[in-house]
Amino acid sequence: MRMSLGASLRLHRPEAPKKSLRPGNRDARVLAIAAQKGGVGKTTTSLSLASATARFCEQRVLVIDLDPQCHVNLAMRDQVHVGGGSLSEVMSDKGGLEVEEITTSTEVDGLFVTPPDPQLMTLEDRLSGRIGKELALKKALEITRTHYDLIVIDCPPNIGTLTLNALAAADQVLIPTTATALGAAGVSGLIEAVADVREHYNPDLAMLGVLLTRVDGRNARTNDAVYQLMDDSWGDLLLPVQIGVNDALSQSQLAGQDIYAYDPTSRGAAQYRELAELVATRLREQ
Ligand SMILES: Nc1ncnc2c1ncn2[C@@H]1O[C@H](COP(=O)(O)OP(=O)(O)OP(=O)(O)O)[C@@H](O)[C@H]1O
Ligand SMILES: [Mg+2]
Repeated sequence: MRMSLGASLRLHRPEAPKKSLRPGNRDARVLAIAAQKGGVGKTTTSLSLASATARFCEQRVLVIDLDPQCHVNLAMRDQVHVGGGSLSEVMSDKGGLEVEEITTSTEVDGLFVTPPDPQLMTLEDRLSGRIGKELALKKALEITRTHYDLIVIDCPPNIGTLTLNALAAADQVLIPTTATALGAAGVSGLIEAVADVREHYNPDLAMLGVLLTRVDGRNARTNDAVYQLMDDSWGDLLLPVQIGVNDALSQSQLAGQDIYAYDPTSRGAAQYRELAELVATRLREQ
């Protein structure tokens, strides 16, 4: 018997991948921490904000280590329990796997992370040619987000496929920058990328704000000039909380611990707690 054209097309339609993960009863906000420039405090902000939110706001928080440098895992190595699977496997799968299937717990109650994945470096090549490659992470968070209150994505220092995936999956984006003219230029680049992502992939993506980090009080004149420049350019986007230079933050990473385990009385610990409260309020308002 000959098959009609309609029946044969139906036979060839690819099936939507089946997910085996069961839904939870939460509804996470997804926050991308992104900047075009390196060394501006993305990882320090991702981790300190996430651990402050888990510890003091009693939320269930996941940090996605989307940088092939794996700095989240390096900086927390004494507190992360070893886990299997990798983010690049999850993102190159065609939608059946979920990020939740590879997350690991940490010594901090309520704080979870994805395992270190240097193979993310070549993920861009593996995804090339795939339609909708910028939406791989969003798809892999569909059910995962029902298991958390907050998901923080630590992005690599560029605007490539990985960062575009983070922006496409996020509800909001936070841009850390140092108080320098070059830092300001990097923020402008990212603001343009956010506009592109809104147009093509994620119309609801909102800007949580620009966070000044590693502010050195000894450079008062430069700080004032840069602050003025940023205020003129972005006004409302500049967050009222700033993070000062604080050795305890970099020392905690050398020790492999979050700042609240390493030195809970440090200035960095207090400022990131203040930031966590501000972020929680802004995310609730969205
Ligand atoms: N407020 C701070 N005070 C002192 N040192 C800091 C502060 N914030 C970050 N650092 C240090 O500065 C360096 C860069 O910070 P971090 O790794 O967070 O930046 P990043 O933007 O994630 O960098 P990359 O682009 O390489 O991923 C690290 O050694 C970190 O310990
Ligand atoms: Mg980093």
